[in-house]
Amino acid sequence: MIAGLQAVVGTEHVLLDDDVKASYETDWTGRFTGRASCVVRPGTTEQVAAVLRLCTAAGAKVVVQGGNTGLVGGGVPAGGEVLLSLARLDVLGEVDLASAQVTAGAGVTLADLQGHARAVNLDVGVDLAARDSATVGGLVATNAGGIRVLRYGSMRAQVVGLEAVLADGSVLSRMAGLAKDGTGYDLAGLIAGSEGTLAVVTAVRLKLWPRLRARAVALLAMDSTEAAVALLPGLRASLPSLSAAELFYAEGLALVRKHGGLPAPFPVEHGAYLLLECADLTDPVEQLAAAVSEASGLVDATVATDAAGQRALWAYRETHTESIGAEGVPVKLDVSVPTSRLPALVAALAPTVQGVCPAARLVVFGHVNEGNLHVNVLDTGELHDEVTDAVLNLVASLDGSISSEHGVGRAKVGWLQLSRSATEIAAMQAVKRAFDPAGTLNPGVLLP
Ligand code: MLT
Ligand code: ZN
Repeated sequence: MIAGLQAVVGTEHVLLDDDVKASYETDWTGRFTGRASCVVRPGTTEQVAAVLRLCTAAGAKVVVQGGNTGLVGGGVPAGGEVLLSLARLDVLGEVDLASAQVTAGAGVTLADLQGHARAVNLDVGVDLAARDSATVGGLVATNAGGIRVLRYGSMRAQVVGLEAVLADGSVLSRMAGLAKDGTGYDLAGLIAGSEGTLAVVTAVRLKLWPRLRARAVALLAMDSTEAAVALLPGLRASLPSLSAAELFYAEGLALVRKHGGLPAPFPVEHGAYLLLECADLTDPVEQLAAAVSEASGLVDATVATDAAGQRALWAYRETHTESIGAEGVPVKLDVSVPTSRLPALVAALAPTVQGVCPAARLVVFGHVNEGNLHVNVLDTGELHDEVTDAVLNLVASLDGSISSEHGVGRAKVGWLQLSRSATEIAAMQAVKRAFDPAGTLNPGVLLP
């Protein structure tokens, strides 16, 4: 099989050396790692198809990887698989201005795609902190969310066409970008969020949005999560330009200040912090300032009027992940609950985690509009499964989801039944068998 793979992609794109493979074998968290039999780097869809035909014929398992920014172990091997890297599929088509759409190869980074769209006054609906490394294929395969979901939806909502290769090497392609298409099952929508278990995404056609250059950013301080959630209806109603609403707490703020050397945003600590961003064609600073001054329940607020000030406020939120990582390898649990139940979740988290792991440190932040919390637990020692179990059961008791935007991966596969019924899991397994009867793609990811 190795000789066959070398014949397809060239010897230099089949990596066999342990040192060279290493950077592909551990995910961003450092928690999930395994050895790949080899790393294969095809450069075209046809090569991906030939690689999958060879692997399936040889009975080899394949793990699919984009920018390796995943946080749930879904893109790294468990042990012995062929690691299929899509990084070389990085062709970006010309933006189609008539439809405001673009075709991007799976290996195009989000930052490159954003730059490409912005050059013609358009923009990408999804944005997230890992934009410089995260790739389009991985964003679609995990149905990534990020900071603009309240305005534009998740990655699946951006997809108007998709090309993907099935495990048997056949290519499924629907790239015309039809905004209306009533011809049956939405296969692109099904493959989006399937975490590489159904097919390998090789290219996508994405809808783009008007570029909104004028931005305003505010950081609000309040006493509690209740106060932050209570602000949402008024903010949504008075700010049609609202494009991000991000929540964090004093523990996270202390960490980002420690690791980034950032100044305190306010003279004293507060119970909760909400970062808001508005984006519009004309300067939304006054709109945002007016909404902030009318909002009830605030104890302090600051509005940034220039780009440097906006970046400085965003740094408090966007450097959370790396600052937590600098403290150790956390148990990262990305969960969501109905937004009205967010205060109940936040209140119960500390006693729940401490109940199973008294030494644990909890750092929580997230996307408030979607009820999406990133629960990071440091210093869990050997107790990661106990902590995971306690938090995910708490989330399920509040009608929440065990994975909001990072996927199930390997990390949460044992808890899928908390969010999906037996009937749903059986239906998903039947879909998996229909697409990938030999079970070649991403075994052990998503489905028990
Ligand atoms: C974020 O919102 O910053 C990301 O989902 C990353 C993370 O949870 O660490
Ligand atoms: Zn997030």
